[in-house]
Amino acid sequence: MSNRQNCDSGSLSPLELYERVTTQGDKVRSLKAAEAPKDEIDTAVKLLLSLKLMYKATTGEGYKAGSPPTDFTPINNAPTLAEDDDFVDPWTVQTSSAKGVDYDKLIVRFGSSKIDKELINRLERVTGQKPHHFLRRGIFFSHRDMNQILDAYENKKPFYLYTGRGPSSEAMHVGHLIPLIFTKWLQEVFDIPLVIQLTDDEKYLWKDLTVERAYEYAVENVKDIIACGFDINKTFIFSDLDYLGMSPGFYKNIVKIQKHVTFNQVKGIFGFTDSDCIGKISFPAIQAAPSFSSTFPQIFKGKEDIQCLIPCAIDQDPYFRMTRDVAPRLGYPKPALLHSIFFPALQGAQTKMSASDPNSSIFLTDTPKQIKTKINKHAFSGGKDTIEEHRKYGGNCDVDVSYMYLTFFLEDDDKLEQLKQAYTSGALLTGELKKVLIETLQPLIAAHQERRKQVTNEMVKQFMTPRKLAFEF
Ligand code: TYM
Repeated sequence: MSNRQNCDSGSLSPLELYERVTTQGDKVRSLKAAEAPKDEIDTAVKLLLSLKLMYKATTGEGYKAGSPPTDFTPINNAPTLAEDDDFVDPWTVQTSSAKGVDYDKLIVRFGSSKIDKELINRLERVTGQKPHHFLRRGIFFSHRDMNQILDAYENKKPFYLYTGRGPSSEAMHVGHLIPLIFTKWLQEVFDIPLVIQLTDDEKYLWKDLTVERAYEYAVENVKDIIACGFDINKTFIFSDLDYLGMSPGFYKNIVKIQKHVTFNQVKGIFGFTDSDCIGKISFPAIQAAPSFSSTFPQIFKGKEDIQCLIPCAIDQDPYFRMTRDVAPRLGYPKPALLHSIFFPALQGAQTKMSASDPNSSIFLTDTPKQIKTKINKHAFSGGKDTIEEHRKYGGNCDVDVSYMYLTFFLEDDDKLEQLKQAYTSGALLTGELKKVLIETLQPLIAAHQERRKQVTNEMVKQFMTPRKLAFEF
């Protein structure tokens, strides 16, 4: 494993280093052509060699003139265009468009790849499974290196899944179910180990919470996660406050990552300022570490080269851009990612839902009556102001929250298409569309609550015990 790089040279991005090497190479050539004094040429050559070494240490590959770093993705989060007013990071999702974030632009800005028809077809071919409706409907819309994962699956090479939750409150909202539902499907399709991180440390650092309360929320959230139906023999769930103290493998990876990321870089990626506490500044390494298999020696027998696949909404990508930037310098494979769009707030796609505003979303603890009232009262409608106008002009599914919610939770493709046609033509009224949504969500949430009731403290303990899973490595 190459672990030589230190913080100083790490402050230049691969592309900046590449450009420096190129410029220095040009300088050496022109000094030689001009038959400059020997010591001047020697000094320039020395600098060139050390820049080349830095480049290799940063990218894991030797410098090649004319080929800039191929897998270079900008890890900075700043919007690239002044007029581009969508903003997405792990704490803020903002857009001025009622249709929501422009995800095509986000793909370009984040340097990820679109999940296109070709990739979906390949996934179907390779796994023999009908793609999940989250894939068919573009809800999981972006990826990094998913083709590598499918190559691994075809070649029977192992890989694992990693996802997580920041336990900021006792109750999770339906948006939090999206990556969990999809992760469960992936686990069933690929039959691989899954690790789920509860970042109670993150929530302690960011919110007005005691460590004890953050841990309590973690345990409550674990019950909801278990209720999604994960296989106990194939899944390890851990709280950072708990697992970090008992896992040298985890802590060693954290410090390795910390050594390879500068304050400048995390400021650029996460927008930290000089007055943020040092806990926040070093936290990204804690979310990055589970992307490396050596963080879990009990599962992977200390193997360091098992690739990880991370399903999450796109807001978490900054953590993993940083992780992918660091991975080659530690001699680890870069994690692959599958990104989802955001499940919108009831008030519209302009905001991220907030656990502190009960009317911004449907919570996993809501009663059937609460679900009905919230949808009828708060779900933003793309319908017209009067029945006459609606019948004449039809509704707008692009901004209608009830329709958007149905794209996530109504599995029947034909029924969804019929609703879209009827709403767009004006045949279906807003109240009728809301009724379909209420009748879809009420049984789904009730069934979740029923499964959650069956989750015992003993089951929580078992899922959270570091142990070997049902796989040989
Ligand atoms: P958190 O708790 O904010 O969110 C948990 C997961 O839910 C996704 N998510 C959403 N997905 C769709 N629509 C929404 N409206 C919505 N809101 C949140 C998030 O993208 C995330 O996947 N720091 C993380 C916890 C974490 C993590 C991870 C997440 C640790 N390791 C690895 C993903 C992958 C957090 O606070 O997530």
